[in-house]
Amino acid sequence: MTVKAHTRREFLQHAASAAAFGATALSGLSAFATPGTAAPIDEHARLIPYGSAARADALATDVAYREAIVTNCDIVVPEGEMKWPDIHPARDQFRFEKSDALVDFARQNNIEIRGHTLAWYGGMPAWTNDIASRGEAEGELVGHIETVVSRYRGDIASWDVVNEPLIDWPEDANSLRPSIWTRQLGPDYIPIALRTTASVDPATRLVLNEYDVEYKGDRFAARRMALVQLLRALRDRDVPLHALGLQSHLFADRVFDRDALQAFLRDIVALRLDVLITELDVIDYELPGDIGQRDARVASIARDYLEAVCEVVRPRAILTWGLSDRYTWVPTWFKRRDGLPNRPLPFDADLKPKPLFDVIEDFRRRFA
Ligand code: XIL
Repeated sequence: MTVKAHTRREFLQHAASAAAFGATALSGLSAFATPGTAAPIDEHARLIPYGSAARADALATDVAYREAIVTNCDIVVPEGEMKWPDIHPARDQFRFEKSDALVDFARQNNIEIRGHTLAWYGGMPAWTNDIASRGEAEGELVGHIETVVSRYRGDIASWDVVNEPLIDWPEDANSLRPSIWTRQLGPDYIPIALRTTASVDPATRLVLNEYDVEYKGDRFAARRMALVQLLRALRDRDVPLHALGLQSHLFADRVFDRDALQAFLRDIVALRLDVLITELDVIDYELPGDIGQRDARVASIARDYLEAVCEVVRPRAILTWGLSDRYTWVPTWFKRRDGLPNRPLPFDADLKPKPLFDVIEDFRRRFA
């Protein structure tokens, strides 16, 4: 598979120099400062960058939302626009309108953009079910990564290359989530995806993203153990990997296991991996309906979690899976029985900041 000659950035830089692009400098805070640059660290630079999942359609139609993202975010990540169904809907068809729009939005507002996600079992387009051999699977996976990653080389600071590789209750690192990739490539799909991404864009940071490692219980203990095993195996095989993404979808009805989480994070640090909080929200369907009480509980749950994480490691970034309750996946998957709208995010549906936003602001300054 040939890698595209010009990245989209090069094309636009050419256009930009022709058209003198406008860009409003925001914080310019980056989760991953350009590797190896020994820039003097001022107070500002020591803030942990904050970011959010963003939706291209809402950015295009909802001015208030767009302004709230520009005002509050150092980083954005496409909620769905870079997933296979959106970007590669048919075998030889790529669709970049929405992902390009998000990259342009980020560049025009001096906001960092993360990529999500290149190898995931979730929501794969139907045509991939016709992939019938190891060779074909490797060709399609490598081809997809070459096409997408090369297009945004220089724009995308970090990619969730591999998302949710483990089954819900794993026995060990080999308990991988069944997908077209495991069916045809077995566990090799993970090093193939990471090595390919690294070869196409050597500057982008490579992240493996997972969920449900925070709580008490055998399932969570099994997930922490299997994840450390998986990451250690990748390290032992010199597979390029820079960071673990902790999705951090927190549940109000679960019991936090602070000691186990911190021991797990120490294992991650010992593997010389960075840590990012990639999809924080608080699933509130079991919390009281009263808004004041609920928002306070949501904030205290996040505070306990961020406290436990930051005592062990400085997260490279804190991202929430959406900025405002106006746009969140939570009601689709965790609807409240009382029918009240969920309130899992830092801003309410009227784009007013909530106690959760203050908590995140506190932790951004934790290492400043
Ligand atoms: C979710 C999106 O928010 C939903 O809109 C979509 O229907 C399903 O996927 N972990 C991930 C995200 O890594 O990609 C998922 O996003 C949420 C859980």
